[in-house]
Amino acid sequence: MASLSAPISQLTLKSTKIPKFNNPFARNPNPNFPKFSYHKKMSVAVVAATTAEKPKKRYPGEAKGFVEEMRFVAMKLHTSDQAKEGEKETKEPEEKPVSKWEPSVDGYLRFLVDSKLVYDTLERIVEKAAVPFYGELKNTGLERSEKLAKDLDWFKQQGYSIPEPSSPGVEYACHLEELSEVDPQAFVCHYYNVYFAHSAGGRMIGRKVAEKILNNKELEFYKWDGDLSQLLQNLREKLNRVAENWTREEKNHCLEETEKSFKYSGEILRLILS
Ligand code: HEM
Repeated sequence: MASLSAPISQLTLKSTKIPKFNNPFARNPNPNFPKFSYHKKMSVAVVAATTAEKPKKRYPGEAKGFVEEMRFVAMKLHTSDQAKEGEKETKEPEEKPVSKWEPSVDGYLRFLVDSKLVYDTLERIVEKAAVPFYGELKNTGLERSEKLAKDLDWFKQQGYSIPEPSSPGVEYACHLEELSEVDPQAFVCHYYNVYFAHSAGGRMIGRKVAEKILNNKELEFYKWDGDLSQLLQNLREKLNRVAENWTREEKNHCLEETEKSFKYSGEILRLILS
C-alpha cells in the first residue's frame, strides 16, 4: 500500500468505484457545500502503487488544465439562477436573479468605483511583478482600470459626483495586496475569478443594469479591444502554464480560496443594490 506522499506518477486509483462521498467527480451531496476543505476531500481517494497503469486524473477538470479546475469550483459557488452548474442557496440580495434587481445609479457608481480600485490593485501588482510569474499576467488585454476611468469621467460629465471607494473595495484591495506578497497561489485564485467573472456574469449584469437605469448606454467596462474569447483563451493558457509548476497542495490551496473570492466580489456587487 503506497502512502499519499508517493510520487503521483506511481499512484493510481485502486478501484474505479470510489465511494460517492470521496469521489470528487460526484455531485456534492452535502448541503453545506462549499464549506468543506477541498484539500481534505480531494485527497482521500484510495491509492495503490503501480508502475504498470497510467495514473488517473483525480481532480475535476484536471485533464484540461488547472484553469478548468478553478472554473469547476467557481461554477458550484453560483446559485442555480445565476448559472446552470450553480449549487449555492440564494442568501444575499445580489444572489437573486439579476432580472429582479432594482439598481440605482448612485449604487452602480459605488460598484464601479470599488471595482476600479480592485482592478487598479490587480493591475499594479502584476505590473510590479514582485513574484516573477506575475509578469506573465501583464498585458493580457483584459485590463479594466483605464476603461473604468473613462466610464467614471462619463458619469462626471453627466453631472454625477464620483464617490470615494467604500469598505468592500478597500478591504478587497488590502486583501489582494497582502496575498500577492505572502500567498501567490491564493492571489492567482482571485486574479482568475475577477477577470473571468467579469467576462461572464459581469457582462450580463452590465447589460441588464444599463437597460434599467442607463438608457442602454454601453460602458467601456464591458468593451474589450480585440476578440474577448481569444483574450480569455490566451489567459487560460498562461495560467495553466504557471500552475504546471505547482504541487498538488499548492493547487488545492488556490482552489480553496475561491469561496473568499466570491465573498469579496459579492460584497462589491451588492453595492449596485445599495
Ligand atoms: C450576480 C452574480 C453572478 C452571475 C449572474 C453570474 C453568472 C455567470 C454565468 C452565466 C456564467 C457563465 C456560465 C457558463 O459558462 O456556462 C458565469 C461564469 C463564471 N462566473 Fe459568475 N456570476 C455571478 C457572480 C460571480 C462571482 C461573484 C464570481 C467570482 C468572483 C464569479 C465567477 C465566475 C467564473 C470564474 C466563471 C467562469 C467563466 C469562464 O469560464 O469563462 N461569478 N457566471
